[in-house]
Formats: sequence, C-alpha cells, structure tokens
Amino acid sequence: MLAIVVAVLSGVLLTVFVWPRLREYWRNPNGLSLPPGPRPHLLLGNLLDLPTGGSEWLAFERMSKKYGSDLLHFHVPGSHILTINSYKAANDLLDKKSSIYSDRPRLPWAKGLMGWSWSLVIMSYDEGFAAHRRLVQHSFQPNIVTSQHRPVMQREVPRLLRNLLVTPDDFIRHLRSMTGAIIMMVTYGYQVLPKDDPYLILAEDVNKSMETETPGAHIVDFFPFLRYAPSWMFKFKRDAVVGRRLTKEMRNAPFQMVKERLAAGTALPSMVGSLVEKEVVDGVTSNEDLIKNCGAVVYSAGADTSTVTLTNFVLAMIMHPVVQERAQRELDEVVGRDRLPNFNDRSQLPYLACIVKEALRWKAVSPLGIPHYTAADDVYQGMFIPKGTTVFANQAAMLHDPSVYKDPDVFDPDRFAHGVDRSEGILDPARITFGFGRR
Ligand code: HEM
Repeated sequence: MLAIVVAVLSGVLLTVFVWPRLREYWRNPNGLSLPPGPRPHLLLGNLLDLPTGGSEWLAFERMSKKYGSDLLHFHVPGSHILTINSYKAANDLLDKKSSIYSDRPRLPWAKGLMGWSWSLVIMSYDEGFAAHRRLVQHSFQPNIVTSQHRPVMQREVPRLLRNLLVTPDDFIRHLRSMTGAIIMMVTYGYQVLPKDDPYLILAEDVNKSMETETPGAHIVDFFPFLRYAPSWMFKFKRDAVVGRRLTKEMRNAPFQMVKERLAAGTALPSMVGSLVEKEVVDGVTSNEDLIKNCGAVVYSAGADTSTVTLTNFVLAMIMHPVVQERAQRELDEVVGRDRLPNFNDRSQLPYLACIVKEALRWKAVSPLGIPHYTAADDVYQGMFIPKGTTVFANQAAMLHDPSVYKDPDVFDPDRFAHGVDRSEGILDPARITFGFGRR
C-alpha cells in the first residue's frame, strides 16, 4: 500500500513540478530569463505570492514597480502566469502578436467543473471557437445593431426613467433590469416581466455562481486532478454541482421558449430565432447546441459588464454635479426638453461622448480582463515567455497609468476633449477596457 502511495505521489510531483521545468529548459536553448517576479518556492512555485481577496490589480501594479518591469512572471505548479501592466506591452504582445497570445487557458474549474466550456468568452481555439465566434459576430453586424438592436434599447429607456423617478434609491436594480430586458429581447425576442422575471433571476443566479477568473482563485486550476476528489472533501466541488445545473438550465430554457413560439407562429424577431431558421450562417452549419451557446453567452458577457459601467456613470454624476450640469446643458441645447435623445443625436453631443469614455476609464469593469494563453514560445525584450503561459492584462493599472491619464483617479471627461488617437490625442480607453487581441 505504502509503495503505491509513494509511486502515485512521485508521479504527481514529477508531472506537476519537475517535468514542466525540464521541458522549458530544453525549449529555451539560449537560456533567456523569464520576466521578473518573486522568487519561486521549491514545490509551490509562486502560488502563495499571487494576491487574493480583491483589488489584485493594485498588488500587481505595486509589484511591477518594485521589479521595474511591465511584465511580471509567476511560476505556478505545472504552468506559468504572466501579468502585463502597461498598455505598450499589452499592445506589443496581445495585439501585435495576437497569433501567439489569443488562445484561452484550460481553466479546469470554470470549464471542467462549472460546465462553462460552452462559453465563447473562455473557449479555446480547439473547442469550437471559430464557429461560435462567427455566429455571434453575424448577429452583431453594424447593420443589424442599427436596424434591430437600437430600437430595442430606445424602447427600454422610458421604462428605466419611470422606475428611476419612482424609486431612485433602487437605481442599480433598475439599471440591471434594463440591461437584462434589452439582452433578452435582442437574443430571444422575450419581453421580461416588470418584476421577478424567471429568466432574469436564473441568469443572475448563474452569473453569481461564476466568480471571476483572477489568478490563483481556484486551486483546482493548478492541480486539475483535484476535480476527481470526492465532493465531501471540497466545497468547490459541491458548489459546482449547483453551478452546472443552473448553467444548463440557462442555456436550455429560453432556447426552448423560442422554439415553441416559432412553432406557434408567435415568436418576435431575435438572434436565436433567426439562427434557428437558418441552416447555414456565414459558412457555418449551425445546430441546436451551437445556437444555445451563442444565446447564453450574450447575457453572461453583456449583462454585468453593461450594468457596472452604467452604475459607475451614475456614481460619477452624483459625485461630480458640475459635470452633470454641463452634460444637461449640452442635451438641452441639442435635443431640447420636448423629447428624449436618440442615437441620431450622438454626433452632436461631444461632451457626452467624453463622459462615456471617462466612465469606461474611471473604474475598470474587468480589472484583469479575461485571461489569454500563449500558443507558442515567445521572446519579448530579451525575456522568454513560454508556450502555455496564462496571461492577464492588468487593465485597471493601464486605465490608471498617470503617464497616460494625468490625475487618473479624478473623473475628468475633458481629458478627451482633443480626441483620442494613439499618436496625437490621448489613448482611447476603449482600446483597453474591451480587451486585446484578435478574438
Ligand atoms: C462595457 C461593457 C463591456 C465591457 C467592458 C466588456 C469587456 C470585455 C473584455 C475585457 C473581454 C475580453 C477580451 C479579451 O480577450 O481580451 C470581452 C470579451 C467578450 N465580450 Fe465583452 N464587454 C462589454 C460588453 C459586452 C456585451 C454587451 C456583449 C454582448 C453582446 C459582450 C460580449 C463579449 C464576448 C462574446 C466576448 C468574448 C470574445 C472572445 O473571446 O472571442 N461584451 N468583453
């Protein structure tokens, strides 16, 4: 028995700790250094050096200053983590070398345990990425957004305004409800109920069950064999049973509803409805699973991100009444007080455009982005970046880089008054906030 335990343990140690180091040694014949970072411990590498508990981006920013490098490297069992802490390095690597840096890591917790391998956001290239991407992209072409999605947004705004007038303290709930209503109409042609909508409750429960993928958040990501451990040993395994059930329900329930309505001839136009009715979309032969996945990803990727951005905007307006008054004056001059603004007014509202940019910059919605993954070895400024490295772009640090955005903590829309451009004007925060690369 002891011999078996020793053999298994040795196998694990060899696979997780020794083999990866040997492999890199062979692959890095010139002996280039890895990017700087804390000194790894013998067995756990830098596992205990990874910041946890919130505001990880600040800790990475501090370390980046300490080591005097935009890139930080962490050894983790069986793999590597890289954080990129400046826009220049992110642009050099994730954008300009996107063929190397655009894959996604394996994420045993999210994909294996929580059952999220269906989600385009975290899908690796070999998991059906291209077909999913094409279907989603097809449904968000500029002409479809203008003709079909914008009218839906425009219809939901008066409802939001009424709700804000009646119960202003509940503003976050109202914003969330508007975002959910727009997404459910665009995706499934479904009008949500004014209160306690079952589909929105389900989708919210699913989103809550998925924590963010910050580095080091899930031990099973470093020791994938733990997913086979008995459920009584680990809470994450018990949580995953619930998470899997919820996410399955979220993919299936609204999809079935659309199919039934199509059969009954009562379906409203929607992304899922139009995909169901086409056999081939942009050269991709579609099927039910593919369509379910594409429908579900829109809510999971779009609801929280949009709600948080709008919440940050409200917070900024409350904290900066002078900005709010100036925005109102611009609206009054261009639109007047007899109607609500619409998308056609946008080009005549430059100050509001600056406020939108500043709202996207001021509080990063996704501070460390969605992890990327290297598909091949790379060398950057003399540093070796191995294949199979999980890469986090420290978006919050980039959006608060004082050398790019003066007084970064101040909400100042005027910083964009002279336009945004990489060479002349100030860097457009949209280049950072919405992530990097060619996915
Ligand atoms: C302010 C709102 C939003 C922010 C800040 C945001 C941010 C991001 C970020 C940082 C990524 C990762 C990009 C990367 O690989 O580096 C991403 C991916 C993605 N987002 Fe958004 N997003 C927003 C709204 C939306 C909405 C409304 C939708 C749905 C229509 C959406 C759908 C997606 C999808 C499908 C992906 C995955 C793309 C891929 O991996 O190929 N996002 N988003």
